[in-house]
Amino acid sequence: MLAYRHAFHAGNHADVLKHVVLVQVLRHMAAKDKPFTLVDTHAGAGGYSLESDYARKRGEYAQGIARLWGAADLPPALADYVAQVRDFNGGGALAQYPGSPALAAQLLRPADRLHCYELHPTDHRILAAYLGQRRHSEVSMSDGFAALARELPPPSRRGVLLIDPSYELKTDYAKVVAALREALQRFATGTVIVWYPQLQLVEAAQLPRRLKAAAQAATKGWLHAGLHVAPAGEGGFGMTGSGVFVVNPPWTLHDTLQQVLPVLVQRLGQYAGARFALERHAGP
Ligand SMILES: C[S@@+](CC[C@H](N)C(=O)[O-])C[C@H]1O[C@@H](n2cnc3c(N)ncnc32)[C@H](O)[C@@H]1O
Repeated sequence: MLAYRHAFHAGNHADVLKHVVLVQVLRHMAAKDKPFTLVDTHAGAGGYSLESDYARKRGEYAQGIARLWGAADLPPALADYVAQVRDFNGGGALAQYPGSPALAAQLLRPADRLHCYELHPTDHRILAAYLGQRRHSEVSMSDGFAALARELPPPSRRGVLLIDPSYELKTDYAKVVAALREALQRFATGTVIVWYPQLQLVEAAQLPRRLKAAAQAATKGWLHAGLHVAPAGEGGFGMTGSGVFVVNPPWTLHDTLQQVLPVLVQRLGQYAGARFALERHAGP
């Protein structure tokens, strides 16, 4: 049984980075008339109460979305993301945080498809209830890594794959690389977003290099954004930041993140060593 529950972490600095990127990618996809599919291989519960015991116990959102809430001077892409969270809260106070399926449900058009995978029975049940009414939505309680053969390429040949595991198992690191390779073989033009944690762990440290190698072997363009916010805890434990690796990114994403990342460092940084990294490789 998996122990990870995203409710402990909802709205933290890592969710902010991942979801700013997701909102921008979905906006780009929705700019063309033709429908697209979002496959969310590790979907979570869909949305989270920030007033639950889970969220209160760690209060991680206080170092994440709460630091952006109410800010008036954000770059447009960051303001857009905060507006999505505000919509999820019905325009009221910050009490709920939208996970990736909820952001997608807000941004996808009626003909766009949303296919979610979530292994935890409780989170699966919450997500299935949340998306139950939405047309063109499927929620499966099965392994998201194993879903690619079924999902790719999507019927409309336009699609986004979000790979966002908990990395609770060290084998997730190798599975992410294999999933990226498989995704690009099955659907070479798809946009793939991979999130990963910055940890003092060899598998985590090596992951960006392995993702770049996989994208380059498939001769695809990629973008890599990292946000480092905190020093390692005692004994080297704890997440110090996170990164997002995007293959076949929207061409505007690099410039957008160039505006967003310095603001995230300034607002979400927890010590003087906070910093960002942004790199890209153009396709052939
Ligand atoms: C980081 S959370 C997902 C957060 C979500 N994507 C978001 O942005 O709101 C990772 C989720 O993956 C689930 N999970 C773990 N292994 C899985 C697998 N092999 N297939 C599908 N879901 C899995 C966990 O139960 C957890 O809810």
